[in-house]
Amino acid sequence: MKKILVIGAGGQIGSELVIALRNKFSKEQVIASDVKEICPDIIQDGPYQQLDILNREAVREFVISNNITDVYLLAALLSATAEKHPDFAWKLNMEGLFTILDLAKEGHLKQIFWPSSIAVFGPTTPNVNTPQYTIMEPSTVYGISKQAGERWCEYYNNKFNVDVRSIRYPGLISYTSLPGGGTTDYAVDIFYKAKRDGKFDCFLSENTELPMMYMADAIRATIELMEAPSENITIRSAYNLSGCSFTPKGLAAKIKKIIPAFEITYTPDFRQQIADSWPKSIDDSFARKDWNWEEEFTTDKIVEIMLNNVNPALLTT
Ligand code: NAD
Ligand code: SER
Repeated sequence: MKKILVIGAGGQIGSELVIALRNKFSKEQVIASDVKEICPDIIQDGPYQQLDILNREAVREFVISNNITDVYLLAALLSATAEKHPDFAWKLNMEGLFTILDLAKEGHLKQIFWPSSIAVFGPTTPNVNTPQYTIMEPSTVYGISKQAGERWCEYYNNKFNVDVRSIRYPGLISYTSLPGGGTTDYAVDIFYKAKRDGKFDCFLSENTELPMMYMADAIRATIELMEAPSENITIRSAYNLSGCSFTPKGLAAKIKKIIPAFEITYTPDFRQQIADSWPKSIDDSFARKDWNWEEEFTTDKIVEIMLNNVNPALLTT
C-alpha cells in the first residue's frame, strides 16, 4: 500500500496537492510535512509532521520507520527569494533533493516527485514555444539549482534505477494559499489587490509575457505523471508543461472587463531581469505524447475563478 510523504506541504502547491492526494488515496496514506511548526488549516484533516528537509538524519529516520513509499519534495526557495539568499537557496534546493534521491537509491522509496521550473531556461534559450531540448543557460541561483537538480534526477534514474519524475512548472496561479517568493507571483497578487484596492502596482513591465498555469491543472498533471506507466516516461530530467501565457497588460485588460474601475501601474524591480530571462511560451509536446497531457484552464477561466474566490483577508500587505 502506498504511503506518501509531502515535504513542503504548507506552501502554494503542497497544500492543494495534499488535498488532491488525500481525495485520491486516503487521509491516513498522505502525511503532510513542513518546516512550519503548525499545520496550515487547509490540510489539518490528516496526519502532519514537522520536518526540516535539511535535517538529513531526521528525514531518513521518518521515511524508514514510517514505511513511506512515495515522496513529493516541494521544499525550496523560489526565484526572487533565492536571489536575496543565494547560499541558502543552493543549500536548501540541492541538499534536500540528495537526501530523498539517496533514500530511493537505497531501496527505501518507490517513487519521487520533485518539481523543476521554467527557470531552467535562460537568456540564450529560444523564448517562444521553448522546446524540451534546447539551450539552457539559467542566470538565476534558482534556475541553476533546478537545472542541476534535473541532471541529478536523470543520473539517479540512469545509474540506480530511481523512479523519479519531474515537471518544469510554469508560474502557478491559485487562491487557497499565497505564493512563496517567485517572479510569477504578480499574477496571483493582482487578483487580491484588484478586489481589495481596485488597483495594482506591478513589479514587472506591461509587456512581460510568461508561461502560467492554473493550480488545478498543475496538480492534475503531477498526479497523471506519477501514475503513468514507467515505460512511457521517456524524460527523467523534467517535462516541459504548458498552460497559457499572458502579459501583465493582457491580464489587467481581462480583469478590467469584470472590474471596470481597475487600474494597473508598473514599477519594475529586480524581478524584471529574472522574467526577461525566461520563456514566453512552452512547447510541451513530450508531455502530451508520453502521458497524454492536456491543459484545461484558459486565461479567461483563470481570471473568472480568481476574482470569484480570492480572499483579500489573507493578504499581509
Ligand atoms: P512555497 O514557497 O509556497 O512552499 C514551499 C514550502 O516549503 C513552504 O511551506 C515552506 O515552509 C516549506 N519549507 C521551506 N524550507 C523547508 C525545510 N527546510 N524543510 C521543510 N519544508 C520547508 O513554494 P511552492 O510554490 O509551493 O513551490 C513548491 C515547489 O515547486 C518548489 O520546488 C518550487 O521551486 C516549485 N515550483 C513552483 C512554482 C510556482 O509557481 N509556485 C513554479 C515552478 C516550480
Ligand atoms: N513561479 C516560480 C518563480 O517565479 C517559477 O519557478 O519562482
